[in-house]
Amino acid sequence: MANKSRSTQADIAKLAGVSQAMVSYVVNNNPNVKIPDETRQRILDAIKELEYVPNALARGLRSGQTKTIGLVVPDNSNPFFAEMARVIENLGFENGYSVILCNSDYELEKENAYVDVLLAKQADGVIFISSGGDEEISQKLQESHIPFVIVDREITGFQTDVVRMDYQLGGYLATKYLVELGHQEIGCITGSPRFLPNDQRLDGYYQALEEAGIPINPSLVVQGDFRIQGGSNAMKHLLGLQNPPTAVFACNDLMAFGAIQIIRQYGLSIPNDISIVGYDDIPFAQAMYPSLTTVAQPVPDIAQSTMTSLLRQMKNKNPSGRPSVSRQIVIQPKLIIRESTASRSNNNAG
Ligand code: RIB
Repeated sequence: MANKSRSTQADIAKLAGVSQAMVSYVVNNNPNVKIPDETRQRILDAIKELEYVPNALARGLRSGQTKTIGLVVPDNSNPFFAEMARVIENLGFENGYSVILCNSDYELEKENAYVDVLLAKQADGVIFISSGGDEEISQKLQESHIPFVIVDREITGFQTDVVRMDYQLGGYLATKYLVELGHQEIGCITGSPRFLPNDQRLDGYYQALEEAGIPINPSLVVQGDFRIQGGSNAMKHLLGLQNPPTAVFACNDLMAFGAIQIIRQYGLSIPNDISIVGYDDIPFAQAMYPSLTTVAQPVPDIAQSTMTSLLRQMKNKNPSGRPSVSRQIVIQPKLIIRESTASRSNNNAG
């Protein structure tokens, strides 16, 4: 009897009494070859008995496909990206692909190393959420002949699909709502400046203030880092101002959480003393108290559009690996009003 842990297609063929080619048709689920049910069953029984595991490497060499997709994210501790990874992994699994998760931690060096790994492993496609728009890394992908999709960032000059959100609209909706609640001194906690999502959310903030005729006060715009700590530091700074804001728009939910922590430490209440709006609508935004008013980015829609684009490219792969027509898919944000915002007249300070 063959050693179970190392059984081969030849062993299966011998046990089932069929040719090796027949075993290969069944293992690879070849739709072009009709195999009688009884024969197929004998092969499947032999596979089970010998605990046969196909050699993915050898299969990849034969088919030119590794059935893997690389997903590069900047911060997998941010529930926005954790959820994105979960939905993409599910969609990949449904379509017969394993997803390799690469977390760059917003470090270009790590991101660069991960792109090299994915290219070396011959991933069939890459979903790339850059940690800062490094041209060298994107250029490497562009020249690789591997289909890829850029998500949640915009890296110009590349021939491939981009899935992104209307970030300016999101920033505008958040700030406009605070203006409608009667706030005039509205702070903004930004992420790091080299990101399109950040810069455009800030543009939306300016747009809403300008539209309302509220003069822009640069001291109310404080840079964070898209993480809890950055939100806390920025909020400390805002509360130390001579005229602190009565409302704050944080450019993501994690920074809003950091800001809330500090507001509470200063003995102030939300929303009575300060209203706060976040961005992303991660699951904790709804579960916390008071629940967070935020701008939702619909992760299932983003993931679905991304996967559709990548599957299309992988299916109709040009020799160059690039789609003949590249598309910009823009997904709309939505303001979700919850308990962390109130009208200025309710402000204890106001
Ligand atoms: O990478 C930081 C942010 O960009 C995330 O929180 C999410 O808002 C994304 O668009």
